Amino acid sequence: MPKPKVLATRPLFPAARTILDASCDVEYFPSAESASRQNLLRRLKDKEGLVCLLTDAVNEELLRNAPKLRIVSNVAVGFDNIDVAACTKRAVVATNTPGVLDETTADFAWTLMMAVARRLSEGEALARSGKWTGWDLDQLVGTDVWGKTLGIVGFGRIGRAMARRASGFQMKVIYHDAVRVAEEVEQELKAEFRDFNSLLSESDFVSVHVPLTPETRGMFSGPKFFRMKPTAILINTSRGPVVDENGLVAALEAGKIAGAGLDVYENEPFIFPGLKRANVVLAPHIASATVETRTKMACIAAENVTALFRGQWPPNMLNAEVLKDK
Ligand code: GLV
Repeated sequence: MPKPKVLATRPLFPAARTILDASCDVEYFPSAESASRQNLLRRLKDKEGLVCLLTDAVNEELLRNAPKLRIVSNVAVGFDNIDVAACTKRAVVATNTPGVLDETTADFAWTLMMAVARRLSEGEALARSGKWTGWDLDQLVGTDVWGKTLGIVGFGRIGRAMARRASGFQMKVIYHDAVRVAEEVEQELKAEFRDFNSLLSESDFVSVHVPLTPETRGMFSGPKFFRMKPTAILINTSRGPVVDENGLVAALEAGKIAGAGLDVYENEPFIFPGLKRANVVLAPHIASATVETRTKMACIAAENVTALFRGQWPPNMLNAEVLKDK
């Protein structure tokens, strides 16, 4: 029996290729350049599976071009690039890669938090500039992280991983989520629930860990920044459109908040010029980018595909209803 044809929009990692190649006939795009929209649509025509990245928009246009498609496997936990309802309508299974990137992403949110608080980008630039004249008492003084209040917005797996790290820094942890978590979880993580506005006004650091949905889009807009402490620092490793960048720049310019650490942007890879300021640390969407984690993500994406073609339910389905009646 011929193997099902699959397209992967990147070469993936060897471990993931081994999984996929064992049961599928896979065409790998060698690079980002080769994964142009036009090429993607053209090469998808005869494919039954697609392994894609969060930069690939899986929408009506793509689905129309892929009449044989049975599964779209996103190599990411966030899936706002996928029109899941459109997939469901065409009986295409959509999957993501939850669970393997929580600690790595929390590590990076912490990295950004420390970098902004301790002015690492400015310090590094000075150290490399040849202009450093030596230790001085008030040179590049930042703000302490330890002992402060950390406000976590979105208390799912990654938000909770942030809370666990906070205990080592003797921080008070408050959180906001659409749904309050079980009391045992609050107790274990020593985290107190707050409504969104109270969290904003009490926190020294606000770290965002919500998915992008119609409800969370623009959740951090102009008036919300005005509720924050003028000394507060905002960290976003979730999705760019959760934060209104115009509002953020205005708040930074007006001194309504003290700084920000960003890994994600409203219109990636465009970075709003107003964000390129000394008190903002900018990263290019790399929170989950470790060899270990990205390899695991690619392997899970591969396993989601091979499970379907083996006749099993893929482990991380976003629209299980597609297979319900099968
Ligand atoms: C990365 O941003 C992801 O959603 O996995």
